[in-house]
Amino acid sequence: MSAEPLYFTTPLFYVNAEPHLGHTYVTLVADVLARFWRARGRSVFTLTGTDEHGDKIAQAAALAGVTPQAHADRVSGLFRSTWKQSGFHIDHFIRTTDGYHRAYVRKILAEIHARGDIYFGSYTGLYCYGCERFYHERELVNGVCPDHKTKPTEIAEENYFFRMGKYQDQLVRTLEARPELIYPEGYRREVLALLREPIGDLCISRPKSRLSWGIDLPFDDRYVTYVWFDALLNYASALEHLGKMELWPRAHHLIGKDILKPHAIFWPTMLMAAGLPLYRRLCVHGHWQMQQGKMSKSLGNVVRPLDMKGRYGMDAFRYYLLREMAFGQDAEFSEAALVTRLNADLANGLGNLASRVLAMQQRYFEGALQPLAPEPADLALRAAFADARRELDAHVEQLAFHRGLEAVWRALDHANRYVTETAPFKLAKDPATTPRVGAILHELCEALRVTAQLTAPFLPETAARLATFLAIAPERLADLDLPWGTAFAAGHRTLAPEALFPRVESVPE
Ligand code: MSP
Repeated sequence: MSAEPLYFTTPLFYVNAEPHLGHTYVTLVADVLARFWRARGRSVFTLTGTDEHGDKIAQAAALAGVTPQAHADRVSGLFRSTWKQSGFHIDHFIRTTDGYHRAYVRKILAEIHARGDIYFGSYTGLYCYGCERFYHERELVNGVCPDHKTKPTEIAEENYFFRMGKYQDQLVRTLEARPELIYPEGYRREVLALLREPIGDLCISRPKSRLSWGIDLPFDDRYVTYVWFDALLNYASALEHLGKMELWPRAHHLIGKDILKPHAIFWPTMLMAAGLPLYRRLCVHGHWQMQQGKMSKSLGNVVRPLDMKGRYGMDAFRYYLLREMAFGQDAEFSEAALVTRLNADLANGLGNLASRVLAMQQRYFEGALQPLAPEPADLALRAAFADARRELDAHVEQLAFHRGLEAVWRALDHANRYVTETAPFKLAKDPATTPRVGAILHELCEALRVTAQLTAPFLPETAARLATFLAIAPERLADLDLPWGTAFAAGHRTLAPEALFPRVESVPE
C-alpha cells in the first residue's frame, strides 16, 4: 500500500432540498474513510459543500419568495450544521457561490476558450431540469428522464459549447488503461458502453435573459455558465484556494450512481481540456430505496439524519447504513430493519459482551486486571480478532464496509461464545480457579480494546465509551499495532460499565 495522502470528496448538494438520507450516506462514507485511514497513519483531506447555481435553485427560491442568495445561504447553512450535529468531520465546506470558486471557474473557462475548445453555436435539444442537462433521445426511457420520470423540455437557443467529443477517444483509452478509475467495475462498463456512441459536445451556458443565477462567462457577459461546468470544478477550486493543489491527483470522488455520467464523462474531458491530471478514483454507490417507493417530500417518507440520531443515536444509524448497503448496489431503508440490527448486533452482540465482561471484572476483582495465562481457547480468541483486523482492512480498501463490519462481528460472536464456553461466572465460585477467571477476563478486556479500535471509524461514540470503561488512554487506544496482552499495565483498573445500546422495544411500521 502506498502512503500517499488521500483526498475524499462528496458531491456538492443542491440547495433545493434539505439534508436527507442520500446526502447523509455519502457524507458518512467520507467521514468513515477519513477516520479509518487516519487511524492507519495516512494523511487525509475531506471536502463537501453545496451546489447553489442553476434553474432548480432559482425556482426553489422563487417558490419560497426569497432571493436565490438568501435561499442558498439558509439551506447551505442547514447542511453545514447538520453535518456538525451528526459528528461528521469534514475538513472543508465549499459553496459554489464562494468568491474564490467563481473566480476559478472563470479562469478555467477563459483558458479552455483560449485554446479553442469552447465555441458558440445554436442548439435544439431535450433538456431535463431535474438533471440540469440535455438528454439524447436514446437515453430516455419511454420518452421520459429515467431519474425524474418527467418528459424533458425541448429547448432551442444559442449557447456556448465545450468540445467534449474531441476528447472521447482519449477518455476511452484512459478507461481501458486505468481500470481502477471507476469503481465498482459495473459502473466502468456502463460508462464504456455510453462511450461506444458519440458523446457530442456539452452545452455549458444559459443566456442571462432566461437564467441569471450563475457565473458570468469571462468572454461573454450575456451568458452564465451551465451548472455542471460550474459545480464539478469545486473539487479543484477548493484545493487551489487552500494552497493544497498537490492533493488534486489523489482525489477519490464519492458519488451516487445518478451522477455517474457528469463525473465519468464531462469531468475527465474537462480536466483533459484544462490540462489537469485526472482524479485517482470515482467511487459510485447505489441508491437507498424506500418500501413505499422513492423517498419524497410529498410521500412524507423523507429520512432526516437528525431525526434518526434523536431516535436511535448516531452510532446505531451509522452502523445500520454501513452494514445494510453493499457499496455500489441499491439497498432498502427501513426503520424496522434498523431496530432489528440495533437490538441484535449492537445491544446483544457488542453491548452485552461489554457489560458482561466489565461487570464480572468489577465483581470479582474490583476492576483490577489479572495476569494472563494463555490456553488454546485464549489463543483462538486472539486469532479471531487478528483475522477480523486483516479482513476489515482488506474490505474497507474495496469500500465493502458491510463485509468489514461482518468480519468484526464474527470476532464478537466468537468472544460471546468464549464467555459461554469458558464460563468464568462458574469458575469464580471456586477460589482454586480464580486465577483462571482473571486470565479469561483479561483476554476479554483485550478483545474489547481491539473492538474499540476496529469499530472506531464506524461507531466513534461507542468506541470512545468503551475506551472510557476500559480506562485506556487515547494514545494507547490509537496504537493499532499494540501487541495483545500489553495494553494494560499491572494493577490497571477498568470501570463499572453502563449500557452501550439500550434495546429498542417498539418497532416502527
Ligand atoms: N449537485 C449535484 C452534484 C454536483 S457534484 C459536483 C447533485 N446534488 S444532489 O443534492 O441532488 O445529490 C447529491 C447526492 O445525493 C448524489 O450523489 C445522489 O446520488 C445522492 N442521493 C440522493 N438521493 C439518494 C438516495 N435515495 N440514495 C443514495 N443517494 C442518493 O446531484
